[in-house]
This record gives sequence, structure tokens and C-alpha cells, in this order.
Amino acid sequence: MSNQSSVDIKSEWDIVAARQLGRNVAKELGFGTVDQARITTAISELARNIYLYAGEGKVEIMGIVENGLSGILIIASDEGPGIPDIRRVMEDGFSTSGGLGAGLPGVKRLMDEFKIDTVHGEGTAIKATKWLR
Ligand SMILES: Nc1ncnc2c1ncn2[C@@H]1O[C@H](COP(=O)(O)OP(=O)(O)OP(=O)(O)O)[C@@H](O)[C@H]1O
Ligand SMILES: [Mg+2]
Repeated sequence: MSNQSSVDIKSEWDIVAARQLGRNVAKELGFGTVDQARITTAISELARNIYLYAGEGKVEIMGIVENGLSGILIIASDEGPGIPDIRRVMEDGFSTSGGLGAGLPGVKRLMDEFKIDTVHGEGTAIKATKWLR
């Protein structure tokens, strides 16, 4: 692993900072502009969820190499209330705001790997990876 960096999410400005960091890391790793847009959209969705539902948390963004493949790993974590019903949340059409990124199902679609760990009352950690090809 290399290029690890992280942004604390406490205000709406931090969402912008996380996006910018994500774009820079993705560009450095060699992702094209379309993938850079996918990655920054995913980061925005995750950071916005932290801000809205957990109040605060952090987004870590790092370059990774696994089985000879390079990629970008995003870890969005918080110690908020947790997500009560992940299955329902992952059904398309659950998210209400109708934003561009289409919530967590949108993040899953935009990235190659996606995993939610959440415990009621303890917090949430979401890992999303995109491979460079
Ligand atoms: N970090 C989190 N902590 C606690 N609950 C969360 C977190 N992230 C998401 N949730 C819960 O999961 C639901 C679904 O999130 P998702 O991002 O898919 O949709 P949304 O935020 O409701 O709408 P959109 O993202 O489209 O504006 C949220 O409404 C919220 O209840
Ligand atoms: Mg959301």
C-alpha cells in the first residue's frame, strides 16, 4: 500500500476536500477522467452520508496493489448510529434525495468492490475499491 491519506469529515467543506484529494490520488495513479469522475462521485456520496447521518467521521483514500493489480481504495468510517437495514438501503430506489450519485447503490455501481460493515449504535465502515485496467 502507498499514498495513504485521509480527510476528517466534520463540515460540508470537508466533503469538497475529500473529493479533491480523491481526484488527485486517482489522477496520480493513472485513472482516466471518466474513472476520476466515478471515484470522486463515490467519495462525495460516502462523505455526505457521514456528514448527514453520523455527524463526523473520516474518508481515507489510498493507492493499493493486490495480485499485480493497482487500484484505489476508499474507506469511509464513522462512529455514528450505524445503518439499521442494509438490505433495504441497497435496493435501488430507497434513497430519497434523488441526487446524482444515487446513494449507496450508486457507489456500488461506480466502484469494482464494495463492502459495508455497520453495527447499530457503534458506527459504519464502508470500503470501496476501483481497479486500474
Ligand atoms: N454513515 C452512515 N451512518 C448512518 N446511517 C447511514 C450512513 N450512510 C447511510 N446511512 C443510512 O442509509 C440510508 C441510505 O443512504 P443512501 O446514501 O443510499 O441514500 P440517502 O442518503 O438517503 O439519499 P441520497 O444519498 O440519494 O441523497 C440513509 O438514508 C441513512 O439512513
Ligand atoms: Mg446518501
